[in-house]
Order: sequence, then structure tokens, then C-alpha cells
Amino acid sequence: NKHVKIGLFGFGCVGQGLYDILEKSEGFRAEVSRICVKDRTKARPIDNRYFTFDKDDILEDPEINLVVELINNADEAYDIVTTALKKGKTVVTANKKMLAEHLEELVYLQNKYNTSLLYEASACGSIPIIRNLEEYYDNELLYSVSGIMNGSSNYILSKIFNENLSYHTALKQAQDLGFAETDPTLDVGGFDALNKLCILITHAYGTIVKPEKLFNYGIQNLSDYDIQFAKEKGYKIKLVASVRKIAEKSIAALVIPQFVKKEEYLYNVENEYNGVTVEAAFADRQFFMGKGAGGHPTGSAVLSDISASTYHYRYEYKKLAQHHDITFSNDVYLEV
Ligand code: HSE
Repeated sequence: NKHVKIGLFGFGCVGQGLYDILEKSEGFRAEVSRICVKDRTKARPIDNRYFTFDKDDILEDPEINLVVELINNADEAYDIVTTALKKGKTVVTANKKMLAEHLEELVYLQNKYNTSLLYEASACGSIPIIRNLEEYYDNELLYSVSGIMNGSSNYILSKIFNENLSYHTALKQAQDLGFAETDPTLDVGGFDALNKLCILITHAYGTIVKPEKLFNYGIQNLSDYDIQFAKEKGYKIKLVASVRKIAEKSIAALVIPQFVKKEEYLYNVENEYNGVTVEAAFADRQFFMGKGAGGHPTGSAVLSDISASTYHYRYEYKKLAQHHDITFSNDVYLEV
């Protein structure tokens, strides 16, 4: 087990969660040697000597062999991640927006510089869904991958349905708990779920699709009437992201709020939990559920990537080579 020296970018909810987890994980030989942050005025809970404001202190340090990128800004994250890959460093990131926007180039850079880019924490927090799709189902025909992929929206809907909270009070709570994005429009507009869906599509179907090509509709325009109607029928409303095979070489994907009945798995997925159903030809239906947001759950997925990097694990994108002829149907499909 090689000793891992981590250069960490960002010390927000997930960065601090990861730091805490690493402190508590005995026997795991990884240490954070530098943390690059932006805000010079913030009080930090750990010794100041770890911190730097200059990204080159990490990127130019040959001792640092692993870059963990956990910042909020997708454009800055793109700069950091591409620079690190070009220097041959292993990169772990949780930045779903950056990944969804640049996946094609990032896969290319990983391969060109013979390094590894891991991002289990970018989709569905603690649920190991990317590695599942990549490894476990690598020879399976998948019919669909669908579910709740945004913890904040689900938290808000849960509070509205179970505790009669107002939308704004519930959103404020999701922000205070560190679940929401800095710009919560990404959450409640369905953009965050869509970014995650795009990442999962690559690992499920071996095709890269940009988020702007797909349809998303969030929860911010749900009316009191929608909620009342659902309650009267005994339904809940959940923000569902899904991709489905609709013909031999064609898939369709979208993010949209849906009525969910008591008998469905998603009915009991509450608060910041995410839940993903995978339907496959032979495995049949499987359901994964776990916390989709928050410092420790997301940090645990980052930790799994850090650990995987010590044995040189990388996504091989086998399906990308096999399924290059998959097309998207732009027809929005609706379930009745
Ligand atoms: N804002 C995201 C969510 C964080 O609520 O799911 C985890 O990706």
C-alpha cells in the first residue's frame, strides 16, 4: 500500500466530512498534506498551516500524488482537474456539474496521461452506483436506471408531505444542513439530478450526453394544488431522474417530478436519501438506497475512491467502446 499524499481543494461540507473521516479511519495510509481554499477570512477548524490560497502549492508539488477536488465552482474545478490530470496525478472529484459538462475530454485526458479520474461521490452520495454500473453490470443489458438523485429536493418534498412545512422553510433547512448547492436552483430546478443522470448514463450505456440535450423540470413550480391532489390520492411527489432503453439502440432520459404510490420503492425514500432502481435483463430489478448528500455520506464515497486509487483502480469505460452507436430519442416519454 503506497503512502498517499493528498492535496485537497475545498474545505466545505464534503471537504470537512472527508477530513474527519480520514482522521477516524485508522490503518488507512492517506494523509492530507495541503488544503487549497479560496476564502481568506473564514475561521478554519484545523491548524492554519495546512491551508494555502495558491493552487500551485498542490499542483506543482511532486510529492502530492493524489488531488481531491471538492470545490463548488465548476469552472475552477475544471481547471484544477485538467491541470492535475495533465501532470499525471490521480484525481478524485465530486463535482457532478463539471463532470457532466466535460466528461468526454476528461476521459480522453485520463487515457492520454495514463492516470486515473475517479468520481463515485459525484452521483447519489454514499450509494456506490457508478462502480456498480461500471463493474457489476458490465455485460448486462440494462433496461433502465432511475430514481431520486437529488437529496435537497427530496428533503424539501419530504418536509412538505410529512411535516406540512412550507417550500421556503424546507429549502432553508436543506441549505443550513449543507445539502443544497450554493445556487439552490441547481437542486430545485432538476439540474443537479440531470448532471448525475448524465454521469450514470455513461457508465450504464456507454454513451456521453451533455446535460443541455436532455429535458429537466424541477420541483420549484409545484403548486399547492399538486401537493393536495397527491395527498388526497395517498401519493407522494418525488423528483425522478431516469434513463430507459426504448428500442434496440435507443435510450431516452429526463428529470421530472412524479407521483409515487405506496407500493413503489421510492415512496419510502425520504429526506436527504437517494434511491436508485436498476432494471437489468438477467439480474432483474435491484434497488439501492442511501444518503445522497451531507459531509460524511459523500465523504465516504470520496474515501472509497481514495482507497481504490491505492490499487490503481480506474474506470475503463469498456461500454464506451462497445456501444458507440447508441442514440438518444428526444421524445420525452411519460409514464401513465
Ligand atoms: N446538492 C446535492 C443534493 C448534493 O442535494 O443532492 C449532493 O450531490
